[in-house]
Amino acid sequence: MKVKKETLFPKTKIQWLWENMKGRRVLYVIGMLGTVVYNILQLTVPYYSGRIVDLFLSGADAWKNMRTNSGLFYHLLILMIVFTVLRGVIVYGDCMIYEHVSQTVLYRVRNFLYDKIQRQDMTFYSTYRTGDLMTRVTGDLDAVRHMVAWVIRMVIESFSLFGVVAIYFFYMNWKMALSLLIISPFVFFIIYLFKNKVAPMHAKLREKLAQMNTYAQENISGNRVVKAFAREAYEIEKFDRANKDYAETNKETSMVWLKFFPYVESIANLMPVVMLAVGGVFLIRGELTMGDYVAFSGLIWAIANPMRQMGNIMNEFQRFSAASKKVMEIYYSEPQIKDALDAAAHPNRFDGKIEFREVSFQYEDGDLPVLHDISFTVKPGETIAIMGETGCGKTSLINLIPRFYEPTKGEVRIDDIPVQNFRLSDLRKQIGLATQDVLLYSDTIEGNIAYGDSSIDLEEVEKFAKYSAASDFISKMPEGYDTVVGERGAGLSGGQKQRISLARALAVRPSILILDDTTSAVDMETEKQIQEALRHLDFSCTKVIIAQRISTTMMADKILVMQHGRITEMGNHEELMAKKGYYYELVQLQTGEDLV
Ligand code: GTP
Ligand code: MG
Repeated sequence: MKVKKETLFPKTKIQWLWENMKGRRVLYVIGMLGTVVYNILQLTVPYYSGRIVDLFLSGADAWKNMRTNSGLFYHLLILMIVFTVLRGVIVYGDCMIYEHVSQTVLYRVRNFLYDKIQRQDMTFYSTYRTGDLMTRVTGDLDAVRHMVAWVIRMVIESFSLFGVVAIYFFYMNWKMALSLLIISPFVFFIIYLFKNKVAPMHAKLREKLAQMNTYAQENISGNRVVKAFAREAYEIEKFDRANKDYAETNKETSMVWLKFFPYVESIANLMPVVMLAVGGVFLIRGELTMGDYVAFSGLIWAIANPMRQMGNIMNEFQRFSAASKKVMEIYYSEPQIKDALDAAAHPNRFDGKIEFREVSFQYEDGDLPVLHDISFTVKPGETIAIMGETGCGKTSLINLIPRFYEPTKGEVRIDDIPVQNFRLSDLRKQIGLATQDVLLYSDTIEGNIAYGDSSIDLEEVEKFAKYSAASDFISKMPEGYDTVVGERGAGLSGGQKQRISLARALAVRPSILILDDTTSAVDMETEKQIQEALRHLDFSCTKVIIAQRISTTMMADKILVMQHGRITEMGNHEELMAKKGYYYELVQLQTGEDLV
């Protein structure tokens, strides 16, 4: 597995978030302003309570005011109620806005990521594990949503509340305000220390989660192997360890805050004490009215709470930071294999000429080249068979035709045009491929066969199933073509799956058909039927067939024999037999075996 380098993104995380709010930015700004307004309105209750106390309860003229100016009393009371209701309305609207925008961002980025992942090349898929990718589009993305829905809101709420109240405090009594606020910088310093400690924890936490998800995904999808080797207990233990590891890291992360929490909490708790002590002195000295004292003490929480909240916010911010990095890695990833800028459209069928010119190839994560100087030509409509022992490079070779990988040297051409000059969709649409490991979708058999071209009708599906000698067993199934096959084709035999995969490759009426060991699991008789059918397709098609059986390769126009990534023999059956090389020996071996 290749280790990914630290990626540099073209945008900062916040810029990236902003970009993905497109179309909802105004709404989001309204939401943020709403948060500020809401917090300003928090002042109204203590303000009016202060006024009521001064005018009607504790002031010198309190008794007189109550009797002669009760209208003002009710006026202040009604204003207090109106602002409280207004606050409720704003906070409701605000919640809706944050939720709406965050869901929009989530939806948009998730679709974008899925699109990105779909368009990636093979190298990407061998670099990232499925469980890790799943974590990115679920858990990581949810941390991004949480940032929009909650963290940013809390930041604004805390700072605006703190700011507004601080200003109001100074407006009321600057000495009192100063003595209360002088301790707040310590909180910022503590939070800064906390951030440095907690940031790596979130990165670690996220890795553990991905690890756990990867185990789960691999074991669930590979459960047949687990069962075959009776390794359930081992797998359960392995998962248990990963789960424990994740839980421990989670605990450790929470513990980090617990180390800093007492300091922040002490400072926050100090506020009411300062209020009582300093406020008391000021009251005695007459520098503070009773009403102001009530307003101060009614708002002291608005200074203390943001301080307490700060740790929480920083924690969530770091979670977002770790998660968004993972999301952005996919967001900004570009497949190495993509359409050339000047790729012209080739919507028509290929004639089907395939040419390899001195092609060498090495996997990016491999140590040695797996193909060396491969040169051959297949004329339109011809059949070429590729043989060779396991691991000699057959699959690697055919993967270069649809440009799943790029040769490290040399060129692959179709109809005398380098494959890089086609648009990927034009190229791949013309190629029917039945891969070595058959992958069927959990869909009906009809749906699976018509996967590459959903416009074809049942009659045609049946025809392609006949070509691939699959119609007999399909029609024997109780629901025929409507039979739903399980995930990856569960419920079908290996040979049955191969034949459906062949029918799927044929159903796009490709001008180039590539079969990678597609008939290895079917019996000789059925294979003969398939070979016969392939010779009489009702459309022209060049066939590249990887096979081990002489009965398949014998009829080919050209046979390539490969060894260790090189072509060692090339010619038709008669030519290679005359050569008395590897092919000849293989024929001897196989026909000899057949006689036994
Ligand atoms: P069989 O299918 O077993 O008959 O073999 P093959 O002839 O199709 O061999 P293939 O082309 O799959 O592999 C050729 C060589 O490339 C082998 O040594 C593999 O180990 C190696 N190889 C195949 N796929 C990958 C890959 O994704 N990454 C790396 N690094 N090596 C690969
Ligand atoms: Mg292979």
